[in-house]
Amino acid sequence: MLEWKPDYATGVLSIDSQHKALFDYINRLEKLLETTEVQRSEVDSLLSFLEDFAKLHFIGEESCMARSLCPAYKKNKEGHALFLSNLRFYRGQYENTSEPKDMLGQLHESLVWWMNEHILKVDMQMKGLAKTD
Ligand SMILES: [Fe+2]
Repeated sequence: MLEWKPDYATGVLSIDSQHKALFDYINRLEKLLETTEVQRSEVDSLLSFLEDFAKLHFIGEESCMARSLCPAYKKNKEGHALFLSNLRFYRGQYENTSEPKDMLGQLHESLVWWMNEHILKVDMQMKGLAKTD
């Protein structure tokens, strides 16, 4: 389970709380993986909510970085594109497999890896710079 820790705090409250919500979506995916049989309807709605929420979060975070003249702006935008293409790739694979758990397990693993890497190395460069209005 992804657990929030102070190291993840950028100091921008709206962004930090959105990151916590993303953790929550990813943890819900892990919970679904623990069930005996994957319920495709639950997975579909979870992944759709995750994608929609992530898109909104990315737009807000990118504009916050732009306003703050954050040097990580470009890297951040690229990281966000990677998140979305990764999510779509695994979702596509998941929809066409008879082994949904394997594919969702790989998706989950890649999301956990991305969140850790991205928040700690990229989003964190906003710390102390961010202008929130
Ligand atoms: Fe970001």
